[in-house]
Amino acid sequence: MGRRLHRVGEYILHRIEADDGSIFGVCPPDRRPPPTATVERMEPSDASQCRRLVSELPGPVSLALQRRRDHAVTTAVSTSVPLFIEAAEGAILIDVDGNRLIDLGAGIAVSSVGHRAPTVVEAVSNQAARFSHTSFMINPYEGYVAVCERLNACTPGDHDKRSALFNSGAEAVENVVKVARRVTGRQAVVVFDHAYHGRTNLTMALTARNLPYRDGFGPFSPEVYRAPASYPFRDPEGMTGRAAADRAIGLIERQVGAANVACLLIEPIQGEGGFVVPAPGFLPALASWCADQGILLAADEVQTGFCRTGRWFACEDESIVPDLVATAKALGGGLPLSAVTGRADLMDAVHPGGLGGTFGGNPIACAAALASIDLMEANDLPSAARHIESTAMPRLMALAGAHRGIGDVRGRGAMLGLELVLPGTSEPDPSAARRVVETCLRSGVVALTCGTFGNVIRLLPPLTIDHVLLLDGLEVLGSAIDEVLDPDR
Ligand SMILES: Cc1ncc(COP(=O)(O)O)c(C=O)c1O
Repeated sequence: MGRRLHRVGEYILHRIEADDGSIFGVCPPDRRPPPTATVERMEPSDASQCRRLVSELPGPVSLALQRRRDHAVTTAVSTSVPLFIEAAEGAILIDVDGNRLIDLGAGIAVSSVGHRAPTVVEAVSNQAARFSHTSFMINPYEGYVAVCERLNACTPGDHDKRSALFNSGAEAVENVVKVARRVTGRQAVVVFDHAYHGRTNLTMALTARNLPYRDGFGPFSPEVYRAPASYPFRDPEGMTGRAAADRAIGLIERQVGAANVACLLIEPIQGEGGFVVPAPGFLPALASWCADQGILLAADEVQTGFCRTGRWFACEDESIVPDLVATAKALGGGLPLSAVTGRADLMDAVHPGGLGGTFGGNPIACAAALASIDLMEANDLPSAARHIESTAMPRLMALAGAHRGIGDVRGRGAMLGLELVLPGTSEPDPSAARRVVETCLRSGVVALTCGTFGNVIRLLPPLTIDHVLLLDGLEVLGSAIDEVLDPDR
């Protein structure tokens, strides 16, 4: 190891000569050194968990694959990071050119237990060696039942519950709506501004943002009504959660009529819409109004669920107990699996055969889910998410203090966002967000954007991320923000 440089908190930065031309973890002031430069490195506890660039990005193998992709894959499926991945481990993505990148996106909140978690890999290969498909609707198997048992036990509320398994988040949300309409005999579904619920026809109708999700894809499923969300950064100053709920309830009562509403579908923290955390009191006020009106409260915990926000489910923060919960993403530990979990009386009121699908609850995905949930419990991943928040938040707040182009810092647990604006205004600055993410990538850090206005940088690392690797990623993010928001410094 090279010469000791200085301390960052409890960690020591080292300067090392890269003898094979590789770039190790890069910290300021050497933001983009040439491959042979002397660079700085922080030591992670696990040697596999370090950032290291060995080529230009994208490298030659990624570029060659990109050319193949251009001739084979429609441009309608876009890719935000043009690096093809060969392997992944923990919070490191290894691309086909051998670059090791810090993954601050976890494949959009999926790889919460880390990439290639050994027990998940073992569970998947054991199950694949036994059988990979029967269709639970034809021949049942224990894994499906076991996942439903775990879901019934870990979702909010200790009431009697039942679950059904599907493949994607959108499919779970569609089935939430099916159950709600079937059991209430009502048709209207209320969703919110900035909501994202998927890309199928019904979930496009539920999703708020036009481009890229809805544009030109109509007509959409009817009986979907949109209410204003609580968005503290953009709401009138001082608006409480209660007042934001009254605003939404008033609109629903005037324009839809409470008696027509089957369910109110809400993300407890909005994901694609911009990591929007509602003002305290918003969710409880909506929940109690729903209960009074016989409206089912349906939580879309597809992105927030399974420890991401520092709790098993984000609803728990304000003691919300939804009637129905949609989950997906982290549930399957990297394999496609989603679920609807709800009150037993509701779920069992649907006629037999009313829910299902050929692949829903695939046995390999169930094995991965059981191993992932075991890891979440054994490693107390809600605490890990809170630790990520306590590490990242002060650094993000310091950046916001230094840059008037950061309008808001928000989020909970390991779901954190920075909303970028034209300095001193609330005017969204999507171009700056995009440039920050591109600058991060050039240093080997994968971060994502989101938001109705495309101006939010979101951090969603694997919850198991090595502490030093997280610090390194945050350091890179900070340098990128300095570079983009204050190029003259
Ligand atoms: C809150 C929420 N609901 C639903 C979905 C749709 O999930 P999927 O992409 O698996 O269909 C997403 C995906 O990002 C999501 O964040």
